Amino acid sequence: LDRVMGRIQEETERAALGGGEKRIQVQHSKGKLLARERLDLLLDEGSFREYDMLVTHRCQDFNMEKVPGDGVVTGHGTINGKLVFVFSQDSTVNGGSLSEAHAEKICKIMDKAMLVGAPVIGLNDSGGARIQEGIASLAGYAEVFQRNVNASGVIPQISVIMGPCAGGAVYSPAITDFTFMVKDTSYLFVTGPDVVKSVTNQEITQEGLGGSKVHTTKSGVAHLAFENDIEALKKVREFVTLLPSNANDTAVRDSFDSASREDPVLDQIIPDDPNKPYDMLEVIHRVVDEGDFFEIQPTYAKNILVGFARMEGRTVGIVANQPKELAGCLDIDASVKAARFVRFCDCFNIPLITFVDVPGFLPGTNQEHNGIIRHGAKLLFAYAEATVPKIAIITRKAYGGAYDVMSSKHLRGDSNYSWPSGQVAVMGSKGAVEIIFRGKGDIAEQEKIYNDKFANPLPAARRGFIDDIIPPRLTRQIICEDLEMLKSKKLSNPPKKHCNVPL
Ligand code: COA
Repeated sequence: LDRVMGRIQEETERAALGGGEKRIQVQHSKGKLLARERLDLLLDEGSFREYDMLVTHRCQDFNMEKVPGDGVVTGHGTINGKLVFVFSQDSTVNGGSLSEAHAEKICKIMDKAMLVGAPVIGLNDSGGARIQEGIASLAGYAEVFQRNVNASGVIPQISVIMGPCAGGAVYSPAITDFTFMVKDTSYLFVTGPDVVKSVTNQEITQEGLGGSKVHTTKSGVAHLAFENDIEALKKVREFVTLLPSNANDTAVRDSFDSASREDPVLDQIIPDDPNKPYDMLEVIHRVVDEGDFFEIQPTYAKNILVGFARMEGRTVGIVANQPKELAGCLDIDASVKAARFVRFCDCFNIPLITFVDVPGFLPGTNQEHNGIIRHGAKLLFAYAEATVPKIAIITRKAYGGAYDVMSSKHLRGDSNYSWPSGQVAVMGSKGAVEIIFRGKGDIAEQEKIYNDKFANPLPAARRGFIDDIIPPRLTRQIICEDLEMLKSKKLSNPPKKHCNVPL
């Protein structure tokens, strides 16, 4: 037994050392932490239970070095007491590349997470498919993808990109619910700069092709970017604490903010001039518990705000038009961003609170030719399909088709309110009068008449399309009361294999 114990210890120590001192130094010199150091920061102290530390690859070719653990650290632990399953790729071992055995380790924790209903967090730092293993590693990826798809809508899945993530490797993060990146040290692309150069003759750096800036501002592939590993892992802890563990769970914690807190500043926040912007972010901060809003994709499609907050301790999803950007118009990117968010919330029992100030869809050939009809339909579809409690507050404009889309009564909105400054209308009065009168008569006079008639919340209130016109200062109180009332809401969609959401 002593001999066996000795061998166990030897292999365990070898696993703990990963790719060895030299490669560890290289990793640190890039400002990156090691796979295990990352887990230490992510998980509650002492909570990590590692699986498969001694697993090795089975490749017989190329005299490949066998390091126990095979380039990925897997297991479970807790974050603020909440059970989570984790994998953390070790780029000091064969570049963190994914072998068949490496994939099996990831699949094992994903299967366990599904079995018990707990989130999966993947810390990605990998050179992609283990080239020496050929298609065995590709098969490994597909096994992971299938599990990502099966787990979608059942348990939250979070990808943190903390190094390279290229080729087939990108599609697991793409399927997971949220993708976070670390600035300067992480990148995501399907084909790297060398392939881009040989195929298109375009010279581009890794950062320029798939760095965090690109993915959080242009492509929308990543949801947030953080300064370094430490900040990223700290934020993931905060984020996971906001989420339910699975689709049958609710995320609640003690609240330190009174449900009846009034905010008189909200009575003054809408400018008199209907074309003057204001910051919708301030409205959100003033309404939610302790002013705490975890914004998702803050630098992408800034004309719509999405993110998580709490009301009386319970996690809610917030969607809000941002009048400061493109006057709060819906465009392709905003529609897709919000649609995916709404669908996440609906999967995971997270009530939706929508603040509406939308002058319509963004006009133009760029939008039309790129399919605003198809993409705008995603948001409409997502709201219409959602069965979680849906509360909407119209703060100012709710015009045209965009009015319908933004959690309207007609899409089974549970509580729909307008502030007195609300204008629920088919379009702005200037445009409306120009069409109706086509330059005939006194346009200014007609505009005034149209304005008096339609540029207010009364026509919608008279039809019951909004339930009430509420004083802005009472917004928090009313939302809290409604969330309490809607706690026992039961609504389901007709049985079907799955829907055919416009893609
Ligand atoms: N398969 C097997 N080994 C790999 C690998 C892969 N996909 N990616 C990296 N490695 C190994 C390297 O051979 C190197 O081994 P060594 O330490 O024994 O010399 C080690 O991992 C580190 O790689 P290195 O290239 O020195 O790191 P880097 O930080 O300079 O570059 C990458 C990282 C990801 C850009 C680079 O390794 C790369 O281009 N890898 C291949 C990516 C790819 O095309 N993958 C297949 C498609 S899915």
